[in-house]
Amino acid sequence: MYRLGQPIFDRLFYNRYRRAAIMNATGRLLMIGLGPGADLKFVPPTVTSVTAVEPVAAFRRMASRLARRHGIAVDIVDGMGESIPFPDNSFDSVHVGLVLCSVADVGATLGEIRRVLAPGGRLVVLEHVRGDGAMGRFQDRIAKPWSWVSSGCHPNRRTIDAIAAAGFDTSRLRSIPRTMVPPPCTPHLQGFATVIEE
Ligand SMILES: C[S@@+](CC[C@H](N)C(=O)[O-])C[C@H]1O[C@@H](n2cnc3c(N)ncnc32)[C@H](O)[C@@H]1O
Repeated sequence: MYRLGQPIFDRLFYNRYRRAAIMNATGRLLMIGLGPGADLKFVPPTVTSVTAVEPVAAFRRMASRLARRHGIAVDIVDGMGESIPFPDNSFDSVHVGLVLCSVADVGATLGEIRRVLAPGGRLVVLEHVRGDGAMGRFQDRIAKPWSWVSSGCHPNRRTIDAIAAAGFDTSRLRSIPRTMVPPPCTPHLQGFATVIEE
């Protein structure tokens, strides 16, 4: 469903959010849950190298094909956000695009991201998150069946709270309350968070 539907959603509305989010990446970039690779097209010139972690082999193949078509150099490896296969302080930016809704353990993934980020590093974010009021209550009700039909996507995660709890400064993240993306995958969180040094 994602492979067929997402290119349409990208053209209709997601590409503008993708581009705006990843513009915040600099230096050595790690992308978590790259999927078919749509964000690769928008990696800015401030990025010096691109590495990606993606657990699904079919997505790794699709992203590699897209990268080749667009002449983008990227090293795509098998792996999970909860156990990132790279040493501490390896990257200047880590990108999560529509991924923290899908990982099994958000806290563990954010802990791993913090570990592989160098001091002063950035967590670059485009995520759909739980809304307030009636939207949030609707997302809570639909969360379980939605996750069954969408490969484990949780539409009601309080992602900004999780990012703050993992030791990031979230002041450069902004909520986009009204997007063209239909419920339950709206509103969105976009921008970047920085590592708070201990
Ligand atoms: C909704 S898709 C988003 C894909 C891509 N980032 C995009 O924006 O099109 C979620 C992605 O997260 C990946 N994923 C799921 N669980 C993961 C985990 N624990 N660690 C890393 N990636 C994961 C999936 O394989 C899939 O590629």
